[in-house]
Amino acid sequence: MLNIALDGPAGSGKSTIAKALSKSLGILYLDTGAMYRACGLKAKKLGISPKDEKAVDTFIHNVDITVKYVDGAQRTYLDGEDVSTQIRENDISMYASDISALKNVRIKLVDLQRQIASEQDCVLDGRDIGTNVLPNANYKFYITASIDERTERRYLELIARGQQVDKDALKNEIATRDYNDSHREFAPLRQAEDAILIDTTSMTIDEVISTVKSYIK
Ligand code: DC
Repeated sequence: MLNIALDGPAGSGKSTIAKALSKSLGILYLDTGAMYRACGLKAKKLGISPKDEKAVDTFIHNVDITVKYVDGAQRTYLDGEDVSTQIRENDISMYASDISALKNVRIKLVDLQRQIASEQDCVLDGRDIGTNVLPNANYKFYITASIDERTERRYLELIARGQQVDKDALKNEIATRDYNDSHREFAPLRQAEDAILIDTTSMTIDEVISTVKSYIK
């Protein structure tokens, strides 16, 4: 089985790289952040704080998070409903970051991710793929960029989706998520010792993709 791990902070370009790799190698792309976003959305729908572990524990065992592939693209389902668009609303980012710190949430989603990765060749992007989900992945990359560059990319992405956002507020939110994601107790965001570091700050997306590809035999 071919497993490629792409980890890094928000807005580093992981998902764009993962999509390009999946297409050119003809393998599946698993967006693990989408699963945490779906859990965050569930908490929001129930009016539960994503930081309230006891309240989250009341639904996490029974919630149904499923991914399906339609024309090669991942669709994410929450209790049978396609929430692929809803989970991209900007306020869900913080819900996802908060809920992803909870142990039972991680246990459930990591199990699901390992199961998918054991059944087919795939590229996964997330925060803990190389360190925790698939420590034996064939290739591991840690993709990063400066906070200003990541803010700019997220800003353009949200605008393209028709979402109104204030750039300074977005930068603060990304910095808060970076802190949350890298300081939590369970499987925090960090570069695996055997991961290849790519700083994409002053690279074009094509340069990043060809750099990543140059490592894959
Ligand atoms: O990649 P993203 O921005 O869609 O991820 C949303 C949040 O989910 C992120 O802030 C932290 C969490 N996450 C995680 O903890 N582990 C992963 N493998 C992927 C995402």
